Amino acid sequence: MLALPNELRDAIAQALAAVPAQRWIHAAQEVSARYRGPRSAKHQALASGTEQALGYAALVLPATYAQLVGAFAATAARLPGWQPSTLLDLGSGPGTALWAASTQWPNIGAMYAYEREPALLSLGRTLASASAHPTVQAAHWQRGDLAQFAPTECYDLVVLGHVLNELDPSLRQQVVARAWAATAGVLLIVEPGTAVAFEVVRAAREALLVEGAYTIAPCAHNLPCPLANDWCHFPQRLHRPEFQRRARGAPSQWEDSKFAYAAMARFASPAPIWGRVIREPAYNKAYAEAIVSTTHGVIEAVRALKRHREAFRQVKGLEWGQALIAPPEVEASAEAD
Ligand SMILES: C[S@@+](CC[C@H](N)C(=O)[O-])C[C@H]1O[C@@H](n2cnc3c(N)ncnc32)[C@H](O)[C@@H]1O
Repeated sequence: MLALPNELRDAIAQALAAVPAQRWIHAAQEVSARYRGPRSAKHQALASGTEQALGYAALVLPATYAQLVGAFAATAARLPGWQPSTLLDLGSGPGTALWAASTQWPNIGAMYAYEREPALLSLGRTLASASAHPTVQAAHWQRGDLAQFAPTECYDLVVLGHVLNELDPSLRQQVVARAWAATAGVLLIVEPGTAVAFEVVRAAREALLVEGAYTIAPCAHNLPCPLANDWCHFPQRLHRPEFQRRARGAPSQWEDSKFAYAAMARFASPAPIWGRVIREPAYNKAYAEAIVSTTHGVIEAVRALKRHREAFRQVKGLEWGQALIAPPEVEASAEAD
């Protein structure tokens, strides 16, 4: 099961040890409530000051790390052989995406983090100094407001991780356009797996399609999203570090962290897929069913009857988020009944 890298987990634990536990736990719960809260409650910074930055690292970072790892893995699977040399993390917080990217692309050459809150930048630098990965250790940290972000250089991989939904809606389109202007390869947008945050990702993807971007993941097509009155998100299971369990007041050792995302590129994937499973496959006494977003830009329910044992087993065994090279062979046998 996915876990935080040991050096990151230990560096967070060490930073937390400098503050009385009840203070960082209280700060973590405040930050988490703000993070999950409705937009109207987001007029203030998500986390400012040392204690709130620590609270973010204790409670929110493990989940955003898991989500970024999940989205990076799905992106890399569609881009075999692609190796980013440079990464720009916009709204980096404590540098969560730097750590996640270094596990997916260990040969990445240079990393740049752009963040408004000094306490998060400072914590990010401290955590990065504990990394065993030379590129994370040597990351460049820049203080800046995304409202003023105007790129002068391009980066192979640009990340907007859990940021767009934090911005005033009037600013999102500009930030997406400027992030795209800074993208030489892939722009990855990740948001929490909620219906509201999905709409933020959907709008960004559709604006990027107009600019000629190619969808790498999760969709198998470059058409507008076919989901009507519906949305999609994906799970990433994470082993919870001890400090996260304490901050959450939840004893469970693991959680399924859900995310919505769009990986958009300057080039098409060399590894086409037929579709992606966008819900947990369901089954009952009669059949197994998987909901798949397909290359034709439509949603298909792939259903296998229970008496067609092999097809039933196959559909039941599909994973939520799995990319499918070809449609499972179930239709002919189902129709025969
Ligand atoms: C939910 S956190 C995500 C942090 C990190 N990317 C992650 O995935 O864990 C949102 C981050 O965006 C930053 N942020 C929000 N508005 C910003 C702005 N206008 N300019 C720069 N950073 C901003 C916040 O300070 C915070 O660090």
